[in-house]
Amino acid sequence: MGIYEDKLSEKLSSAKWLVFFTGAGMSAESGVPTFRGEDGIWKKFSPRELANVDAFMNNPALVTEWYKHRRKIVRQTNPNAGHIAIAELERYFEVTVVTQNVDNLHSRAGSTKVYELHGNLEKNFCMDCGTRFDSGGVDTLPDIPRCGCGGLIRPDIVWFGENLPAEQFSKAELAIENCDILFIVGTSGIVFPAAHLPMNAKKLGKYLVEINPMESELSYYCDVVFRENAGKSLAAISKLAASLQA
Ligand code: APR
Repeated sequence: MGIYEDKLSEKLSSAKWLVFFTGAGMSAESGVPTFRGEDGIWKKFSPRELANVDAFMNNPALVTEWYKHRRKIVRQTNPNAGHIAIAELERYFEVTVVTQNVDNLHSRAGSTKVYELHGNLEKNFCMDCGTRFDSGGVDTLPDIPRCGCGGLIRPDIVWFGENLPAEQFSKAELAIENCDILFIVGTSGIVFPAAHLPMNAKKLGKYLVEINPMESELSYYCDVVFRENAGKSLAAISKLAASLQA
C-alpha cells in the first residue's frame, strides 16, 4: 500500500464525500484513445473539421460518420479497474463523478452519480424540434440522419465553442463545494470551462489529489500527486478505503 496509506489514510478516514473529476486518461486503459497523447484523437483528426457545429452544418455526413466510428470504438471497450474502483467506493462514501468523457464507461462500471460535462456518445437530438434519439436509432438511419420533422439529428456532444449543459455543470459545482477530497484523474486540464472546476476547488480550500502519469495544467493546484495510471492508483485507493472501514 505504501504511498497511498501515507498520503491518504488520514484524509480518507475523516472523509464523507469524494468527487472524481475525470478526463480521457481515465479510459485510456480501456483502449479508448485520449485527445492529446501520442496516439491522441486530435493527432489523427482535426477538431476544427469534426467537433464544431459549423463542421457539422458543412458536412453532416462526415461528422455523423466520425461519431459512428467513435461509438464503434467505445462499444468494443469495457470499464477498466479505475472505473470499477470509483464505483466500489460508493460502498464507503458519497461519490460524485464529474467527467469530461463521453464514453459512458463510468455509468457502465456502476457509478450512480455521474455528471457528463461534454455530453454522451450514445445520445443525439434533432436540431429543429429537440427530439432526443439514442444512437441505436440513429446508426440505422442513412448517412445524414434526419428527424421526422425534417431537422438534422446531431450528437449530444458539447462541441468547441458551445456551452456546457448548465444543470450538469451546476450540480458538479455543488458536489465539489461540498466534497472532502477532489480526485483529478487523467486530464490535461487545458479545456475550459471544465478545468475551472478543479481550480475553483483549490480556492475553496479543497484537498486535491491528481492521478496522472504525466504532469498536467492542474498538477500545480494539487496537494498530492500520484504519477501513475488510473487503474493502478484507484484500485489501491479503493483497497485502502476498504481496510480503513474494516
Ligand atoms: N491514467 C491516467 N491518466 C492518463 C492515462 C492513464 N492510464 N493515460 C493518459 N493519461 C493522461 C495524460 O497524461 C493526459 O494528461 O490523460 C490526459 C489526457 O489528456 P487529453 O487527451 O487532453 O484529454 P482531456 O483532458 O480529457 O481533454 C479534455 O478536450 O478535446 C476535448 O472534449 C474533449 O473532453 C475532452 C477535453
